[in-house]
Order: sequence, then structure tokens, then C-alpha cells
Amino acid sequence: MSTIVNDTDSTESKCNNLMNSNNDKSKETEDLYSDKIRDGQWFWNTNTEQIFSQDTIVAVGHPSAKSVVPLELLRYIYLQPHDRIYDPKTHTISYLQTRTYLPVKSLPPREKKRILVTGGAGFVGSHLVDRLMLMGHEVIVIDNFFTGRKNNVGHWIGHPNFELIRHDVVDPFLIEVDQIYHLACPASPPHYQYNPIKTVKTSVMGTINMLGLAKRVKAQVYGDPEEHPQAETYWGNVNPIGPRACYDEGKRVAETLTYAYMNQDCVDVRVARIFNTFGPRMNANDGRVVSNFIMQALKGEDLTIYGDGLQTRSFQYVHDLVDGLILLMNADYKEPINLGNPDEYTIREFAELIINEVNTSCKIKTLPAPKDDPKKRRPDIRRAEQILGWKPRWPVKQGIGETVKYFQRQLEAGLI
Ligand SMILES: NC(=O)c1ccc[n+]([C@@H]2O[C@H](COP(=O)([O-])OP(=O)(O)OC[C@H]3O[C@@H](n4cnc5c(N)ncnc54)[C@H](O)[C@@H]3O)[C@@H](O)[C@H]2O)c1
Repeated sequence: MSTIVNDTDSTESKCNNLMNSNNDKSKETEDLYSDKIRDGQWFWNTNTEQIFSQDTIVAVGHPSAKSVVPLELLRYIYLQPHDRIYDPKTHTISYLQTRTYLPVKSLPPREKKRILVTGGAGFVGSHLVDRLMLMGHEVIVIDNFFTGRKNNVGHWIGHPNFELIRHDVVDPFLIEVDQIYHLACPASPPHYQYNPIKTVKTSVMGTINMLGLAKRVKAQVYGDPEEHPQAETYWGNVNPIGPRACYDEGKRVAETLTYAYMNQDCVDVRVARIFNTFGPRMNANDGRVVSNFIMQALKGEDLTIYGDGLQTRSFQYVHDLVDGLILLMNADYKEPINLGNPDEYTIREFAELIINEVNTSCKIKTLPAPKDDPKKRRPDIRRAEQILGWKPRWPVKQGIGETVKYFQRQLEAGLI
């Protein structure tokens, strides 16, 4: 089987090794693995045609956006703690001082962009940062660390192409940039309901500040309004006084603001409507269904379903979302675009999939459904397919395997 990387056989076997490796994988193997990555032996190969003919996914990204990177490199970043050693006996962490950064693409100055990512220390933002860094761009993250973690981007701190700034998007921020990915906003119900006023301020004032910045520096700005059911033409049906309103209505106003800045001030905007996303670096304790189930299964607890479990959800893997965001930013298209995976699973099927993946004898228990819990959520992604040539590539089962591996490593490293 051919692959997009030079060192075909060994890359495949490394992929398989990593996927199948158990918890006591030897330090020696890890070191060998890091050396291979450091010396760039199997690094970039732009023979991208072959990516899409693979049975297994060996690279993510899209040739037209030059966002293709080997999957193995991303896995190396999030599956292995690089700069710290955890001692379970004393429950202490030692931080290492010397560090080697992964090789990033060397771009000519005209192609190298200065890119601001708000919320870049969060789940989605940090994966976007990894990709933009590996692509060779200069990346500036601003984050107030409300739900994000420095650790999520810690492997880039000190890199000449990277800056991490603690800043709240509710306050104005001035910087010269070419593109802005505006992702700052708590995304899970316990976090956005913790301080609903702050959530509305983050969506509304944060978006005004980013659009104002884009207007001043003539940057392209990608905004992230809320997931809407069905096609992009559906205008939503939001309860303005319910518990989710601070999030849903905030996102709707953000979208209104985005188009007001476009029409009134000619700001170059993109709008993605993101549907449920999962993957490594999700918060382990924020009550979202995937992380809940995986953590319960890993701890040997029964998996909790709210309601009868027949409500359906569709979940996209985070690398697919990042592909879509980068394609959208680099496309000349202003209307909103749905990014999600239309494959539907009932919550019960999802729980069973995770129980199988973790290989545990845990059972499923049911509790009453919460208020305003939608019965069905499924994106219509025809527009993304037509305009961007994008559709999800990751089967949910494979994404779950990867996410389980990540949570296992985090537990071993004493990080959750
Ligand atoms: N994950 C999903 O399934 C999903 C679905 C739909 C939409 N989204 C949207 O995608 C974006 C990213 O979501 P995520 O899942 O990565 O969430 P996340 O909570 O992991 O990340 C959000 C980041 O924004 C930061 N942040 C929050 N308020 C801030 C403020 N006032 N100033 C500066 N930084 C702030 C947080 O610290 C965090 O790093 C959010 O806008 C979210 O609404 C996510």
C-alpha cells in the first residue's frame, strides 16, 4: 500500500504500533520515535493524491489549502507529554528545560501569514494552532484560560513563530495580523452557564473587538457562530430565556455583527457553523457526552444516559473540523457554512461503541433528560461539499479510538 510519507513501511508500522501500544510502552521506544520525528526522516511529502486513496488515514488536511500534515506528527504532539515527567509516587511533575520543536514548513515571506487565534488554548483552537504552525505560519494565541489550558499549546511556547498572550476578548486588543480565527467562547453547558452574563459579553463584545481589529488591519476574520440544525438556510428556533440562551443568542448576535461589519465596513468575513466535535484535548469533566462516556468507561463506572438514549447526535472528529476551517478561511465565500459529520448515532449506540473500544464490562444507566435537550441534531453539509470540496473523512469509531488513547495517556500522566 502506498502512503504520502517517504518511509512507507516504517511509518505504517509506527502508526499501528502507536494505535496498538498499551499503557506500559517502553521509554526506549518513545525516545526512538521522537528521534525519528526530530530528524524529519519521514516528514513532508506533498504527493497528496494518494492521501485520499488510503484505507487508513495517514495524513490530514487538504491540498488546495496546503494544510496537509502527516497524522503521525499530530499524534506525537497530543499523545505524548514532551516537557514534563510525572512521578506517581510523589505526585509531582518535573518540567524539562531543554526542548526541541517539531519541524515546521519553511514558507517564503509572501506565503507566510500572521494569524491570530482567539481561544487558541482550548480544544478546537489548539488543534488549529498545531496545524497552522506545522504549515509554517506565524501564530498568535490570545486566551483567558477560562476553559483552555496552557498545556494544550505548551509544546510551541518559545518557538520563534509562536506567541501566547493571556487576554480576555471582552477587552479590545490591537495587533497587526493577516487572518483572525475567532474561537474564544466556552462551549460546554456547565462552563457557559457558570456565568451567563460573561458568556454573552464574550460572544458579543469579543466579536465586536475582533471585527473592529479586522477592520483596522484589513484582516480576514473567521467567526464561529453556534451550530444550527439542518441546512444553513434554517434560521433557528432558540428559546431566548432558557438555560442555553446565553450561548445560543450570543452566537446569533455574533453572526449578525459579522455581517453588519461586512456590509457596512467591507470586512472580509467567513462564518462556519460548527456541529458537535470531539477528539483529544476535550475537557474531561465538562459534561459533554463523549468525554463523559470515555472517562466513565476508563474508570470502570457505568455510563450515564440522560433520557431514553434514542435521541440522535452526529459527531465530527476534530481534525476534520480543522481541515474545514482552514479551507473556509482560504476560500472566497462569505455565506455561513456548516461543518459537521452527518453520520447519526443514537446516544445509546455511542455508549456501546465506547464500551467496546475501551474493552470494559461497564453497563449503561439512564437518568431523566435535561430541559431543552434537542431530540435530533444533524448537519446538512452539501454547501461545504460543493463550495469547499470538504467532507468528514474520519469514521467515528477511529476518532473514538484516538480519543480514548489520549484520555488514557492523560490519566497515566496525572493530568486529569
Ligand atoms: N466543541 C464543539 O463541539 C463545538 C460545537 C459548536 C461550536 N463550537 C465553538 O467552537 C469554539 C471553540 O470551542 P471548544 O470546544 O474548543 O471550546 P473550549 O472551551 O475548549 O475553548 C474555548 C477557548 O476560549 C477561551 N475563552 C473563553 N472565554 C474567553 C474570553 N472571554 N477571552 C479569551 N478567551 C476566552 C477558553 O479559555 C478556551 O481556551 C467556541 O466558540 C465554541 O462555541 C464548539
